[in-house]
Amino acid sequence: MILLISILGSGKVGASIAFLCVSNELDDVLLVNTTKEKAIGESLDIASAIPENSKFSIRGTDNYSELVGSDVIIIAASVGVYTKHRAENMDFQVEMIKEIAEKIKQYCPSAIVLLVSNPLDVLTYFFQKISGFSRFKVIGIASSLDTSRFRYYISEKLSVPQSSVSNALVLGEHGDSMVPIFSGVSVGGNPLFSMIDSRETITENVRNYWRTLRTFKSRSQFGIAKNTFDVINAILKKKEISIPASIVLDGEYGEHDVAMGVPVKIDQNGVSEIQKIKLDDTELSSLKKSSQKIRNDIKSVHD
Ligand code: 2OP
Repeated sequence: MILLISILGSGKVGASIAFLCVSNELDDVLLVNTTKEKAIGESLDIASAIPENSKFSIRGTDNYSELVGSDVIIIAASVGVYTKHRAENMDFQVEMIKEIAEKIKQYCPSAIVLLVSNPLDVLTYFFQKISGFSRFKVIGIASSLDTSRFRYYISEKLSVPQSSVSNALVLGEHGDSMVPIFSGVSVGGNPLFSMIDSRETITENVRNYWRTLRTFKSRSQFGIAKNTFDVINAILKKKEISIPASIVLDGEYGEHDVAMGVPVKIDQNGVSEIQKIKLDDTELSSLKKSSQKIRNDIKSVHD
């Protein structure tokens, strides 16, 4: 049976996710953009990457009713560009996500929804509230991207391959309060703590990674695309993965009524488990500050 992956927003991120899905023959892809020509143009380009023997296709549209039958929906849409921090256009982005949530509720009430637009945790929260979807089927993808960045800086600091870094995790907000979790990390089987004293520098570097990207290229693109593709692949190919991702919390990590990055398992039904991991006191208090930051943002959204 051919399944349908629908991607809302065909900018750099949406198009890169579509490219990965198509070139890896995952399933059919629908690219949706408010500018129809952009959606059609990107899908025409990506269609040339369909492998010769692939039975899957890609098409572009501006018509939300074509979402009917979608199994997985990725929200990569954005109504503006931000420069200083990810919550800059929050009111507009929340307005956009409310409209999208109503449409998805109408056209594909059984879909699993992955969000990558910013401010990630706030949008994940509002999407779940407005849609009324199970919180296990509304997943914000970003903490796994932050985790990739964390592994990058550890490996750079120690001049070791990234593959030797295990159990690195970034939790909390996909924003300036994100919390790299150092206490569980091991490198080549040894605890990271015994090897570095640059916890603050690495934390700052991970938090500012996207700003560094802005300095050297316009926007981040491939890292988030691959991290999102891995989740779509896990869902559609029924291969469970464990990653940190944003989900509305209901008591886990002492948090209620807020969405933030926590370690989860994802399978064909969405989040199958929110994993409880041991954190040290510094990490726990940083995570509390991070959830408070997201909660304040949620409260500050204007109706
Ligand atoms: C990123 O972290 C900007 O949220 C985007 O790359």
